[in-house]
Amino acid sequence: HTHGVIALLVLQLAEVCGLSEDVFIPLISAVPVSKKQSAADLCVSVKRLLQNGAVAAGGDLQSKTQALANQRDAVVEEVSAGRGVILFRLNKLILAQKLLEQLRSEPDVFGVKSELLHHLQGGRTLVEFSSPNIAKKFHAGHLRSTIIGNFIANLKKALGKEVIRVNYLGDWGMQFGLLGAGFERFGSQEKLRTQPLEHLFEVRSCVSFALAQVYVQVNREAERDESVRSAAAEFFRRLEQNEDQALALWRQFREITVDEYKRIYQRLGVHFDHYSGEAFHHHQTQNVLDVLMSQGLLKTTEKGTAVVDLSEAGDMSSYATLVRSDGTSLYITRDVAAALDRKQRFGFDEMIYVTDKSQTVHFQQLFHILQTMGHQWTERCVHVAFGLVQGMSTRRGEVVFLEDVLEEARSRMLNNMRQSSTELDVLMFIKCVCQDFRGPLMSDYKFDWDKVLQAHGDTGVFLQYTHARLCSLLRRHASETHSCCDVSPLVDSRSVSVLQHLLRYDEVLLQSANELQPRHLVIFLMTLSHLAASAHRELPVKGSSAAVAQARLCLFSAVRSVLANGMRILGITPVEKM
Ligand code: ARG
Repeated sequence: HTHGVIALLVLQLAEVCGLSEDVFIPLISAVPVSKKQSAADLCVSVKRLLQNGAVAAGGDLQSKTQALANQRDAVVEEVSAGRGVILFRLNKLILAQKLLEQLRSEPDVFGVKSELLHHLQGGRTLVEFSSPNIAKKFHAGHLRSTIIGNFIANLKKALGKEVIRVNYLGDWGMQFGLLGAGFERFGSQEKLRTQPLEHLFEVRSCVSFALAQVYVQVNREAERDESVRSAAAEFFRRLEQNEDQALALWRQFREITVDEYKRIYQRLGVHFDHYSGEAFHHHQTQNVLDVLMSQGLLKTTEKGTAVVDLSEAGDMSSYATLVRSDGTSLYITRDVAAALDRKQRFGFDEMIYVTDKSQTVHFQQLFHILQTMGHQWTERCVHVAFGLVQGMSTRRGEVVFLEDVLEEARSRMLNNMRQSSTELDVLMFIKCVCQDFRGPLMSDYKFDWDKVLQAHGDTGVFLQYTHARLCSLLRRHASETHSCCDVSPLVDSRSVSVLQHLLRYDEVLLQSANELQPRHLVIFLMTLSHLAASAHRELPVKGSSAAVAQARLCLFSAVRSVLANGMRILGITPVEKM
């Protein structure tokens, strides 16, 4: 593909310094628009240059790089020394030309296929996210996992990985005992089929309305009635032993719920390649236990449980329980089985789990067990943890279902807006995404309806608004050509700021990919939108000469495509009208 302006600089740098281009590629960064005191566009850290074997070039590096500026047709106009960095000021015409050329010929891979990101290409990434539980509450953490996991999957995909999206449903465990026992006591197949509307305004759970009633009632009764608790244990035991009738009921619960979830994921523009779940892997746990046993890693305790010693000294100062005293498996047992099965089935190169931080220890233990079993690939398993979302509740009480959040947003928004329902969903999602995405993932965040529903400010709506405005500008001038051969009208400070900012896109993607944090991308897109807004204000197309109009349209079209690509990675579908 076309070589960008950075590639050009790298080429020249490598040449004058007598080093390979690869050395320089990761060392060059764009000077952030906000930090500009000098007119420099790019910089190289001297320390990193030295660390990377440019020592030989050492002392006279400065004079060598200086030579760049003296070449004829040089991309570099001036080389200067900053604090610990060598600064390069680029020829703005070449900058504009190269960038716009690249953006015009390959708008969809701009940034993502750059030299800087080359090493990330290829390989298979499994991202497991959302993963709600079937007979338990859907909490805000599941929403956050859905949003973050979707972002990570999109990002990896954009960077050239083959991505497998897995939803690991909590579809096994004692909670099913409770639901099953409850259903056998006071559930009704009739209601399960019809889901009458009169139940709509009762407390809703993660399952269908009819199941919700059972869920609420059985949980209430289990609290004060021992016999309900033992019935639940009994039902779960029947499940564990593959008893037909119990399994049939379980299957029914699961199906109803998964269908419901699929509808909502679709509403949010999120999809999964695989719905798996604890139940499926439950059937593989015996195999895992056999392997552990044969490796001498499984120890039976006095209490009758089976554990894996995770302590360094082998003194059981830390361990994980894999089998309960009644012989049933646990959450972690199923996770070990699931990881092994996935590795075999999908042959992933890396696997990413996205959950709230309360599960950090669980995943540490899981990785530890896999490591102990001798699976080297565990090194490329990552748990992306995020903080808890506090205070997400609706007028009817605590959030129990994702749809409640959407409905609440809709009803609150309808007070001051009239929009079609899909637009509202998207809007709502964007707002969640952006409120969520600007901080570090690990910090807890307080959910704030007012902030989510704010029409102004730095939210996803602003991105959407900017995108729609650019689209309408480009639509209005659709008859004029956007291919700009003459970029000379783009050397004013506003155009240059936009171009300089675009130069940073691949670095921002790299940072997001390295840290698996969306905020770098969010902040980049917000800044891009601000720069675009002021450019749009100050650089009219209408009324300008043909050459100026064409160059500006070309710039706006470039901004639009980067904005759209970035938004899609975040999980926001850009709209063309608003
Ligand atoms: N279903 C779990 C929960 O809601 C999350 C599953 C996370 N993934 C895993 N492989 N354990 O808490």
